[in-house]
Amino acid sequence: MTRPPIQLQPVIERGLLVGVAFKGQPALFSLEDSLDELERLAETAGVTVVGRMTQTLERPNPATLIGKGKLEELVQRVKAEDIQVVIFDEELSPRQQREIEKAIDDENVKVLDRTALILDIFAQHAHTKEGALQVELAQYEYRLPRLTRAWTHLARQAGGRAGGATGGVGVRGPGETQIEIDRREISRKIAQLKRELEEVRAHRERYRARRRQSHLPLAALVGYTNAGKSTLINALTPAQVRAEDKLFATLDPTTRKMTLPSGREALITDTVGFIQKLPTDLVAAFRATLEEILEADLILHVVDASHPNALEQALTVEEVLDDLGAAHIPVVVAFNKIDLLPDRQLPPELRGDYPDAVAISALKGWGLDALLARIEAELIARMTPVEVFIPYDKGDLVDMFHTYGVVEAIEHRGDGVRIRGRLPVTLVGRFEPYERVA
Ligand code: GTP
Repeated sequence: MTRPPIQLQPVIERGLLVGVAFKGQPALFSLEDSLDELERLAETAGVTVVGRMTQTLERPNPATLIGKGKLEELVQRVKAEDIQVVIFDEELSPRQQREIEKAIDDENVKVLDRTALILDIFAQHAHTKEGALQVELAQYEYRLPRLTRAWTHLARQAGGRAGGATGGVGVRGPGETQIEIDRREISRKIAQLKRELEEVRAHRERYRARRRQSHLPLAALVGYTNAGKSTLINALTPAQVRAEDKLFATLDPTTRKMTLPSGREALITDTVGFIQKLPTDLVAAFRATLEEILEADLILHVVDASHPNALEQALTVEEVLDDLGAAHIPVVVAFNKIDLLPDRQLPPELRGDYPDAVAISALKGWGLDALLARIEAELIARMTPVEVFIPYDKGDLVDMFHTYGVVEAIEHRGDGVRIRGRLPVTLVGRFEPYERVA
């Protein structure tokens, strides 16, 4: 069955952003910076942002998130400014979403939160089957507890596509019963998507096993969205991956081969772009993609050094890596887009916090040799030091040592070869019978 991706309507809509700060809760990003980012997300999704509203609260209002007076102001502005979509920077509970929709009381006005928006953008940018399935599943799971009038048209499209999370608002259904049917339909879709994902993952597991057999080290490319991951992978490898000046151009891991300065080869895999306030259940939906990172011998963290929030973005990525359990994997930080910096110099606070980072411009190809050299040095440091004596009739093992390991000393004897050096962990077992005990 072909599955049309769930997408935003391609029309331009007028949007109003709503941001909330909580007293006594220091946030990594300032309210304005977070809204700037939300605005870019909205634009990526085809929304023209015409206004913003902010409020500082002691705590969220369980019914409406924002306060009563603020909600009234919002309703007024929606009418006066002809707003078609209201986007909250905070995640709205299903109840909050319903109450806000009720207050606006206009079927043509959509109420969304950052999660729904991110899901829509993810849906637009999923390149592979697994990515598309993951997004669709996450969208349905997000919607299930939020079924309101907006989804009552679902059952009439059974077997076809449901409208996007922000897609066209359906006809008001006959009430509870209709919603029950919709719920059942969504639950059925969720179960079906999970089965399809299992199949895709089984396939991927076979692919991973093949990759392990290649004994090539693997670097996982991570970075905040728009940091330049796709551009960098293109610059480091001959294959072409799409690079777009849109958030989340990359949704699916793509693995490529790169050549390190010594001529040795390594694999590099692209991952999904990270973003702040990515809800944990959304992270869970992409876990399979992100788990690629845990397989890696090295993490290559690309940071857009020209972004005013470069440090905050880097910290966001580090937090997600910690949550994933990737803290033990060595990291090489690459500060990208230095061509955009005055005098091509890194700001002192970036240098100070990341003294070992490599400054690059993926677009211009600057600093890539230094970056590859750092990657190779880290990969070698992670290999296991060994000393072996290989008889001449096992010449293939000597070749293997040269290809995948690092030979530090070699001595030819009458009956074989003595090698001291380093081997990838996956190969150590093969050489065990020939290991020399000092
Ligand atoms: P997501 O898919 O959103 O996670 O993005 P990404 O990290 O893969 O970023 P991508 O490579 O798509 O680059 C985002 C934008 O930054 C594109 O417009 C690139 O051309 C631009 N870009 C990437 N690297 C550089 C650089 O070194 N200098 C400049 N000036 N622009 C760059």
